[in-house]
Amino acid sequence: MPFTLAHLSDIHLAPLPPAHVVALCSKRITGYLNWQRKRRFVHDPAVLGTIVADLKAQAPDHIAVTGDIANIGLEAEYAAGRGFLDALGKPDTVSFVPGNHDIYLVECARFAARAWGPFMAGDGGETFPYVRRRGPLAIVGLSSGVPTAPFQATGELGVSQLGALGPLLNRLRDEKLFRVVLLHHPPVSEAPAYKRLTDAADFMRVIAEHGADLILHGHDHRDMLNYIDGPDGARVPAVGVPSASARPGMDKDDPAYHLYRIDGEAGAWRCDMVARALGEDGMVREVKREMLTP
Ligand SMILES: [Fe+2]
Ligand SMILES: [Fe+2]
Repeated sequence: MPFTLAHLSDIHLAPLPPAHVVALCSKRITGYLNWQRKRRFVHDPAVLGTIVADLKAQAPDHIAVTGDIANIGLEAEYAAGRGFLDALGKPDTVSFVPGNHDIYLVECARFAARAWGPFMAGDGGETFPYVRRRGPLAIVGLSSGVPTAPFQATGELGVSQLGALGPLLNRLRDEKLFRVVLLHHPPVSEAPAYKRLTDAADFMRVIAEHGADLILHGHDHRDMLNYIDGPDGARVPAVGVPSASARPGMDKDDPAYHLYRIDGEAGAWRCDMVARALGEDGMVREVKREMLTP
């Protein structure tokens, strides 16, 4: 039986909870105005509900969520986010990594750890990088969410996570597991510099040296597929999913999630991907099917 992994991202939970003026005396004010002017017309809880219902009907073995549950890092957004994660599944069946909107200000890392900790801890309780072994998979979670200046949406993994990642990927390869790396920011993107992963080149050097089988990300709110170099001529697919909550026609791509079916064994993995998206007619349907392994 193949193992099925579902991937969704960029939840941007709406509506925004009421914000006290004190909480807005920070970078939050720009995000708050942006939400009131634009984003609240894009991200819709009913759209998210339709996407999640379709995803759950597929009965995946595991669900990966690659960040941006929150919007401007208000403490109440983390309680609402916990409700969303609990409705998806139990912490041992849902793996989460944070995005730039989740680590909006320094204090947000504490809010996220308190509310969402069980969804972003490894089997040994460790975090970033964390590892969860599920069937033939090793799910490696990285955090690229860092507080930034206003109008910046960059991400950074940092030397400590990147230093730990290489030896970890080696160990998981020796265990003959299918290595799935989760991070919010794309390693390869055409987005402007203020939205990029600042140490993407360092991340790709680690992958080039130590390898991985699949990299999943969000952040650009687009359906994306790039192959990055692995060791010995291997090509590692890095796949991005659109926002799961954006109204059809209102964001860069229609709201969607991806399903991966992984089968086979080390040296002969088979992994195919199906994208399911919600169209303007209110129907969720398969919009893409792709074999990712040679
Ligand atoms: Fe996002
Ligand atoms: Fe993001």
